[in-house]
Amino acid sequence: MEDTALLDLAEEVARNAYSPYSKFSVGAAILWKGGEVTTGVNVENASYPLTVCAERNAVASGIAQGQRQISAVAVWANSENVSPCGACRQVLAEFSDPDLNVRVCLVKDGEPTSFLLSALLPEAFRFDT
Ligand code: THU
Repeated sequence: MEDTALLDLAEEVARNAYSPYSKFSVGAAILWKGGEVTTGVNVENASYPLTVCAERNAVASGIAQGQRQISAVAVWANSENVSPCGACRQVLAEFSDPDLNVRVCLVKDGEPTSFLLSALLPEAFRFDT
């Protein structure tokens, strides 16, 4: 699947974001190895810290389906700029290949662009036993 199609899906699902407090509506779409796609939106709460980002909800949806390896992720918001927060980067890393060779498609100054997760999360924590 093309990055633009993945970003279109993220934009579409962002309509379902539950963001009455920030009014910042986010949609995420994840392409898993094997071609399946899952989506998520941010779900806010009156107790603010309980909010869950769109990216993590998209990950959880895929994991519940049995997916384990992310190929690419797209994130869209009703804003000129959106990029996954640090916590989401770490969660995406959990389901990436060891080199974090995962495309992250986002919006910067109103333009779609993409980075590798390895560039967004250098020297990521890994639990090596
Ligand atoms: N948010 C996301 O869902 N994903 C991001 O990449 C950035 C932030 C949400 C969390 C909160 O509901 C709102 O955006 C403002 O921080």
